[in-house]
Order: sequence, then structure tokens, then C-alpha cells
Amino acid sequence: MSLVGRDFLKLLDFTPEEIQELLDLAIQFKKEKKEGVAHRIKEGKNIVLIFEKPSTRTRCSFEVAAYDLGMHVTYLDPQGSQIGGKESIADTARVLSGIYDGIEYRGYGQDIVEELAAFSSVPVWNGLTTEFHPTQILADFMTIREHFRRLKGIRLVYMGDARNNVGNSLLVGSAKMGLDFTVCAPEKYFPDASLVEKCREIANENGGVIKFISDPDVAVIDADVIYTDVWVSMGEPSEVWEERISELSPYRVTSEIMSKTAPGAIFMHCLPSFHDLNTSIGKKIGEMYGIDCMEVTNEVFESACSLVFQQAENRMHTIKAIMASTLL
Ligand code: CP
Ligand code: NVA
Repeated sequence: MSLVGRDFLKLLDFTPEEIQELLDLAIQFKKEKKEGVAHRIKEGKNIVLIFEKPSTRTRCSFEVAAYDLGMHVTYLDPQGSQIGGKESIADTARVLSGIYDGIEYRGYGQDIVEELAAFSSVPVWNGLTTEFHPTQILADFMTIREHFRRLKGIRLVYMGDARNNVGNSLLVGSAKMGLDFTVCAPEKYFPDASLVEKCREIANENGGVIKFISDPDVAVIDADVIYTDVWVSMGEPSEVWEERISELSPYRVTSEIMSKTAPGAIFMHCLPSFHDLNTSIGKKIGEMYGIDCMEVTNEVFESACSLVFQQAENRMHTIKAIMASTLL
């Protein structure tokens, strides 16, 4: 099956077979990289990375994956281009697709990356929008597959703000790949009802299960994977911290929570994470609210069941698979 010329905007656009194929290719690239086998199969191509929000993993993954494939990269930071200020998304798409072979976009509304793709003649890849973070979920599923040797039937519990890009994309990905997915959060943090309805239909076709359980002690029983993300996402106002801390603290991933899961359960996080006070924001918020961590304790983050750095490495292998598969 060929993905050549396709955009990678959200997992809803891909079949389970196509997602499987991308994961297979990422696993192959990882093996080749570890064995020192070169795979410069896109030699001489050029890509541009548009970042309207900060990034460590996604930017570095696109850059290193591009270099490994033999490509050249231009990075545009939030202040470094005319996008959205003096030049519309539609004009930007037509300009950049005349110069480059592929375009990555990280920023705000999903409608922006969809518009970029509609006006671009080369593949556009979503490096995170307010609504979706599809490249993240490929890395997460690669990590789960490496660890458990399968995806189907894996009991994945997502704790915290499930309305955000990572929560939404895990919901879609789980429905596509037949996982047993539980959102564990207060009801107001559940994903949008229309997305849930769509995902229930997809899950029914693929043997997946979608559940919503607000009691953490009940939700995590027999879980294979506990996944969480930050309580306040990029682009949200700092005024929401107080409310999030008060409403989501019962959903912090602690050793007590992990002790209720299935034997051999793992902890996952897309990162960056507020698991201690060793960051400027973490320190400030920690001092303001008298806490030493937010969505996960340092004990769980640093424990043997935490696969967060394997997940982070897999961002690069999966992004490489996306670019290698879609570039013309
Ligand atoms: N997980 C993730 O997207 O990290 P960055 O914000 O560092 O890219
Ligand atoms: N939900 C987070 C994910 C960061 C990778 C955010 O959007 O800030």
C-alpha cells in the first residue's frame, strides 16, 4: 500500500493497516540505525519545519530523521517567518510547496494545518495542533508494541486532561488499532462528544473498547499502560493553573495508582513533564500551590516501569517512517 503524496494531519485519515505499515517501517528504521545501516533514501530532498509553539522532541526528531534520510532542513521559529502576520496560510502553502518537498507544521488550530495542506502541492505533516498530536501517538504505539509485542486488547488508561491534543489522538489511535482505552478524568475533561461518537464507531469495527471512568481507583484496575500529560497545554492562559491543580490532583499518577494496575504495567508520558521542581515553570507553580509535582510523581517517573525516554526516542523513528512513506 502506498502513502506517497499523502498528508499526515490526523490519525482519523488513516486506516489501521496504514498505521500498522508506518509502525513496521519505524521498527525497521530503528533496527537499521542501531546496526549502522544507512538509509539515505530521500537524498537531496528539502523540507521546512514551521514551529509556532516551542518543541524539543518533535523538532529534533524531524531534523535528525531528515538528515538520516539524506535530506536538508529549514527551521522557521515562531518569529522567523511572515506566516499568519503578513502572509496568509494559503499563500504560505503555495510559496513553500514551490521550494520544498515536504512541510511540517506545529501550532494552533487544526484548521490551520488542514488549510496549509489544502493549498500545498507537497505532503504536510502535523507536528502538534491544539486538537491533535498524531506523530506522538505513532511513537507511543511503537513503544507499546516493542514492550508488549501487540497493540490489540492492550488496556490503556489515560489520566488527566483528555480533551487535549494527546488525549484526543490516543482516543482515535486506540479506536483504530483495537486497544481497550479508558479515559480517567472528571467529566468536564472528557474529549468532545462528537469525536467520542466517531471513535466508538471506529472501535466497533476494529475490536476496540472505549470507556470513561472518573474514579481513578476503579479505572486503573488491571491496566497495562497508565498514560498522562501536562494539565495545562501550550497556548492555554496561566489563569487556568489553579483550577487544573485543584480538579486534576486526584488524577496524579502515583505509586499507589501504579500498584493497582496489572502486573508488569508501564507508565507513559509524551513529555515534557512536571514530575519535579527542576524547571522554571514547575518551580514557580510548585511554590505558588505548595506541591512538588503535578501529573506524575517523581517516584513513578523515575521508576523501572516508566518508558518515557524510549517513547521520546521513538518519536524520531516514527517521524522518519512518516516522511519516508509520504514524500513524493
Ligand atoms: N512530546 C512532544 O511533542 O514534545 P516537544 O514539545 O518537545 O516536541
Ligand atoms: N498537551 C501538550 C502536549 C505537549 C507535547 C501541549 O499541547 O502542550
